[in-house]
Amino acid sequence: MTLRSVVIGCGYYLPSRVVTNAELALRVDTSDEWIVQRTGIHERRVAADGELTSDLAIHAARAALAHAKVDASTIDLIVVATSTADQTFPATAVTVQAGLGITGGAAFDLQAVCSGFVYGLTTVDALLRAGTFKRALLIGAETFSRLLDWTDRTTCVLFGDGAGAVVVEAQELSGTREDRGVLTSHLRSDGRHRSKLYVDGGPSSTQTVGHLRMEGREVFKHAVANCTDVVEAAFAATGYSAKDVDWFVPHQANRRIIEGSAHKLGIDPAKVVITVDRHGNTSAASIPLALCDAVADRRIKRGDLVLLEAMGGGFTWGAVMLRW
Ligand code: UT7
Repeated sequence: MTLRSVVIGCGYYLPSRVVTNAELALRVDTSDEWIVQRTGIHERRVAADGELTSDLAIHAARAALAHAKVDASTIDLIVVATSTADQTFPATAVTVQAGLGITGGAAFDLQAVCSGFVYGLTTVDALLRAGTFKRALLIGAETFSRLLDWTDRTTCVLFGDGAGAVVVEAQELSGTREDRGVLTSHLRSDGRHRSKLYVDGGPSSTQTVGHLRMEGREVFKHAVANCTDVVEAAFAATGYSAKDVDWFVPHQANRRIIEGSAHKLGIDPAKVVITVDRHGNTSAASIPLALCDAVADRRIKRGDLVLLEAMGGGFTWGAVMLRW
């Protein structure tokens, strides 16, 4: 017998305001045709004035708790993966903790940009399997709209706001690859690329929040190769291959990157979950939002082999394979 980290529920929240490509074309020199052709994005959500990352996270967390049919008081660990914290400190996770009425356990933020959910799930998995905590809330929540330079057409059309959450609990299982829960995780980073996707502000450097800057073409060049690297590590660790994967749930940055990665890995396009068309790139929220989408419409079912993969600023990248 061994401890496994099993996802027992998931939930999401999207701000109500939809921003279409047509609306962006009124602000910057772009077009619906360019955005759809280059990225697959049709629309994204943008948080209302005064609506904070923690607000999005709390809504998503409540939905995940309801889906898991567990009470907030049973949660002893909260991890919020975000690059758009409410404040420099305290962690957004403690605001979520207070908002949910939880007074015990631990809560902290984790910052790995678009790889945040994969890094978060790996961290939560390690803490649950070590026996340190029993039941965790992992939330990817972002308000990237607040980091965008709305005059820069090369970035402002790409991102959106949202939050997705999962409840993960430690369960004693057989220790085979047929178990439910996280089966393997592979994380990487390479700081030599940190200037290709970054925010030009921060408390220690400029004492401002700053704006997102990206060399899109450079990031694009690395994305498929990095994805393949960690997914192949996950296949090697488990003995599974592309044909065994029931659902591939990648970070949602660009439809061309997603389809290129699936093709290179030999994953059937019918098994790929895509939400970038409706959400844009929501950074750490994109994987849990896509997961929730496929769970809600019953594509992902109990026992399915699910492969998560992300790449983002840093560069950071990673993959997690789990049985739902
Ligand atoms: O989540 C973290 C990871 N992030 C990513 O994975 C993003 C990775 N990068 C990408 O998805 C793509 O590189 C972009 C979608 C950002 C850009 O697509 P691209 O096919 O690489 O286009 P490009 O950057 O090579 O730009 C092509 C042209 C340029 O014009 P010139 O220099 O050829 O005259 C751009 O100025 O398209 C122009 N352009 C635009 N035109 C209309 C750039 N942005 C826009 C725009 N509307 N919004």
